[in-house]
Amino acid sequence: MQGNIFKRSGPNVQAELSEHAADEFKHAEMLAKRIIELGGTPILNPGEWVKKSTCGYDEPKDPNVLKLIEQNIKGEQWAIKVYNDMLKKIMVTKDPITFHLIRKILEDEIEHEQDLEDLQRDIKLI
Ligand SMILES: [Fe+2]
Ligand SMILES: [Fe+2]
Repeated sequence: MQGNIFKRSGPNVQAELSEHAADEFKHAEMLAKRIIELGGTPILNPGEWVKKSTCGYDEPKDPNVLKLIEQNIKGEQWAIKVYNDMLKKIMVTKDPITFHLIRKILEDEIEHEQDLEDLQRDIKLI
């Protein structure tokens, strides 16, 4: 499936999604490190990530590039909502380190959403 998506979506979309994937991996590392610092244990089973995630995720079944971008924008919007909600909760607990971490991740998610909206606009102009 991934091969089809990349083949049909062109180099700009592929590069952008690869860059976002690397950012998402960094987010996971940052969050896992903070969970350990706070005395917790990050979830290590990928099956549990999906079950316990509060973000929506639509499996990319349609290789159409605009559909793929639309799904990714929806995912980024989910992430933005989740991290915004987290920031509101962290303001109450007054944990500045976690607040800063979540704020940084939120900035990345907003940038991802904007990148994808720019790509969507550019593709529609072609
Ligand atoms: Fe992320
Ligand atoms: Fe993202």
